[in-house]
Amino acid sequence: MTSASTATNITWHDGHVTPKERAQLLKQKGLTIWFTGLSASGKSTIASALEQHLLHKGVNAYRLDGDNIRFGLNKNLGFSPEDRTENIRRIAEVSKLFADSATVAITSFISPYRADRDSARKLHADASIPFIEVYADVPVSVAEERDPKGLYKKARTGEIKEFTGISAPYEAPENPEIHIRTDLVSIAEAVQQITAFIEKFK
Ligand SMILES: Nc1ncnc2c1ncn2[C@@H]1O[C@H](COP(=O)(O)OP(=O)(O)OP(=O)(O)O)[C@@H](O)[C@H]1O
Ligand SMILES: [Mg+2]
Repeated sequence: MTSASTATNITWHDGHVTPKERAQLLKQKGLTIWFTGLSASGKSTIASALEQHLLHKGVNAYRLDGDNIRFGLNKNLGFSPEDRTENIRRIAEVSKLFADSATVAITSFISPYRADRDSARKLHADASIPFIEVYADVPVSVAEERDPKGLYKKARTGEIKEFTGISAPYEAPENPEIHIRTDLVSIAEAVQQITAFIEKFK
């Protein structure tokens, strides 16, 4: 997989509506909330609760979930370092599109490599779209105890290779906008922490 552009003879076609006008018309600004963390750290759980909370407040929010996206858009990708990078590159692009449409895009992918998350951040920064990195942080021992999908068990027996935290690396964020120890705070508190943070982007 390569992220280099192979398309030629293409020309960007601007629409008639500026981002500012779109936000005014829809009474909403888009942004991306990017969860990262070990498997079973609680990314999908908190992302779902956050999406529900925002929708009930009348804010259009949409989740891009790691496992779900691998059923469709990214079904041709595995878990090698190259495929993980391509997985994140595509999601960075898709979340940017959702955010550009004035939606709150919520991504929940392990996204283990700092460089890939930084690329996602840069993509958003270049388009002046807020990018909020949320570190769902939990000791690997707690994640392994939770093991809701039985993946750690399979990783320990070697049935799953290249499993983040066991046999593949996880590079923790150095400066996330939001850091949540999911073994210490409740799901509701995590949602509250994130909604309080994004107030400033209204
Ligand atoms: N405070 C908490 N926040 C989030 N999840 C919690 C919390 N306390 C317990 N849990 C439990 O931890 C598990 C987290 O699983 P979840 O599927 O959300 O993880 P994930 O980070 O999305 O993993 P994966 O990368 O494999 O998709 C769930 O079973 C959830 O109920
Ligand atoms: Mg998940």
